[in-house]
Amino acid sequence: MDIVKVALGARAYEVRIGPGLVARAGAEIAPLLKRPKVTIVTEDRVAALHLDALTSALAAEGITSEALVLPPGEATKSWAHLQEVVEGLLAQQVERNDMVVAFGGGVIGDLAGFAAAILRRGVRFVQIPTSLLAQVDSSVGGKTGINSPHGKNLVGAFHQPSLVLADIDVLGTLAPRDFLAGYGEVVKYGGLGSLDFFEWLEAHGPALAEGDRGLRQEAVRRSVQMKADIVARDETEQGDRALLNLGHTFGHALEAATGYSDRLLHGEGVAIGCALAFETSARLGLMSQEAPSRLRAHLAAMGMKRDLADIPGDLPGVDGLMALMAQDKKVEAGRLRFILARAIGAAFVADGVDLGVVRGVLEDGLAGR
Ligand code: GLY
Repeated sequence: MDIVKVALGARAYEVRIGPGLVARAGAEIAPLLKRPKVTIVTEDRVAALHLDALTSALAAEGITSEALVLPPGEATKSWAHLQEVVEGLLAQQVERNDMVVAFGGGVIGDLAGFAAAILRRGVRFVQIPTSLLAQVDSSVGGKTGINSPHGKNLVGAFHQPSLVLADIDVLGTLAPRDFLAGYGEVVKYGGLGSLDFFEWLEAHGPALAEGDRGLRQEAVRRSVQMKADIVARDETEQGDRALLNLGHTFGHALEAATGYSDRLLHGEGVAIGCALAFETSARLGLMSQEAPSRLRAHLAAMGMKRDLADIPGDLPGVDGLMALMAQDKKVEAGRLRFILARAIGAAFVADGVDLGVVRGVLEDGLAGR
């Protein structure tokens, strides 16, 4: 097992990464509990595959558990389901010192974490992320929340988990498309902060996608280590943490444009968004023209979407996409902020980007459809 520490003083915690962690969850969680009782928040698909294993692992350590099982999918990150979870936790008589267990992908982690943040003004929670995306990104760093009709993740709170258990074995039950969407976030880490990691992914990405568990564990460990280092420097995104949003300004606009549907999964939007951010950087003369081509070549080698042309169905025109980007949380004083890069592994936060160049990148991308 690998352990990555998220060094946040009184809110510090460990991310434990390895095989068999769901089966050992009781032993991992027991030392944190004030009484041997937890409430699990999960969703139908994860429950069908893994809930028995989790409840047995808890019971083996004498921990009783109840589960709130929600529908799968992004639409669950809503006011209505937040209310359902909060009221469900209260009905379970979850107390201030109890532990909530978020057991699922990014949707469940964000929703259950936010419910924990506001229940009785804050109860502790453990993240057991079951998707690659949640293991490398959303379960670590304490961003929790729901979507609003105005946009994604616009309502939420920073609330750090007490522990994260990333079980590499559960990745084996993901559909290939979901696994690769999560891989979009893994590539993001190489793109934003480490050419060395990007080169490692170029060498090992295909074997990792095929199922090599050792390589999967190493990819999760390196991604989480990079995220933990950034979060420890800038927990509430006053500066460097925004680097983790490489590809997200474009990606969120594309997700909104496709109605948060399975036309485009979040990680797919991030991968295309990284390619668009690199292309913008190259056109601004910040990075060589080879860098976006190299990123896109790796995404192609992995069988991933990398261009606007790869998104099925209609998309809005350039004006529509620019308007969707203006709803981004990184808008400051009405100005869009982008994460651009000087090279693969050298991203930076850019204010005052020439929007004409961004429009040109989108126009050319749309023309290729
Ligand atoms: N997913 C970006 C962040 O946690 O800051």
